[in-house]
Amino acid sequence: MQVLVTGGAGYIGSVIVEELVRAGHTPVVYDALAKGHLKALAPEIPFVRGEVADADRLRTALLEYQIEAVIHMAGLIEVGLSVTNPDRFFETNVGGTISVLRAMIDVGVRKLVFSSTAALYGDPEQLPIAEDAPTQPTNPYGQSKLMAEQMMRWVAPAHGLTCTALRYFNAAGATERNGEMHDPETHLIPLVLKAAAEKRAIPIFGTDYPTADGTTVRDYVHVVDLAQAHLRALSREEPGLRIYNVGNGNGYSVRQVIEAAREVTGAELPIEEQPRRAGDQVATVASSERIRRELGWEPQHADLRDILGSAWRWMQSHPKGYEEA
Ligand code: UFG
Repeated sequence: MQVLVTGGAGYIGSVIVEELVRAGHTPVVYDALAKGHLKALAPEIPFVRGEVADADRLRTALLEYQIEAVIHMAGLIEVGLSVTNPDRFFETNVGGTISVLRAMIDVGVRKLVFSSTAALYGDPEQLPIAEDAPTQPTNPYGQSKLMAEQMMRWVAPAHGLTCTALRYFNAAGATERNGEMHDPETHLIPLVLKAAAEKRAIPIFGTDYPTADGTTVRDYVHVVDLAQAHLRALSREEPGLRIYNVGNGNGYSVRQVIEAAREVTGAELPIEEQPRRAGDQVATVASSERIRRELGWEPQHADLRDILGSAWRWMQSHPKGYEEA
């Protein structure tokens, strides 16, 4: 299948591109390179530099490459930044999704896989979280992804589109070629590993949460497993919107991640207790029962030490990220 991947030069996008190629598909990357890295892509991958807001450019790319499906990943992701700049998040994540839908409808591309997030559940009443749990985002980032899904719920059946929203839990880990390198980096796992490499302390944002050890709990899913969920989603044909959680179903606290990172890296990793970070959820753990049952998805790298180990190897082979790749 010819697949346009918006945000395909980003962390998760670049791994999806690798997996698409491996499965015999032809990915085309559409990315503004605001955050993505051209060096994350093999040189033979067709690349279009463009903004998701630019529906004209999207239409041209869809036609030029005879695209059959779109994986729409491009968007803003930093939870903290969304609290201080909510307008930007709605503009890019909601507006960008309208623009992608517009371009697809105009040129007759009918299949969309959308990067959504566990952040739209807010603080759930029950763990693990199923797809029909209430959506009460604690930050504008989660709200913006929820709004994009809500648009698709109406647009997809009206225009005969097959839309699949994948609600990611916490993506982590690396392939040999691609790993996590955001600027600024806000995610726990790359920051813990960087602190280990530089023999520094790691801050913990909040130690008074109502969890077993007082720190927040997350469900970390290997980026390759996450990428595989997109390949499964591409096989869907039924028109309308279908939503799936993608997580391992295991929750790890910040302290547990740091402890596992000590084992994987051999570093001492002292901690620095700091106040809570604005907008953070207390605990998110996925029920991925639906995607396992309906799409046959099965995580292959569920162990936290495997996930950390792959990220650590990538960091060691790319000490300057993509700069000297
Ligand atoms: N944290 C620390 N110290 C750090 C960095 C993070 O204690 O140096 C804490 C955070 O405050 C948070 C937890 O570690 O409580 C996890 O934080 P991340 O930033 O790694 O991940 P989030 O759960 O906040 O958000 C991520 C993605 C979102 C996605 C969400 C899904 O950034 O895009 O997971 O649950 F939506």
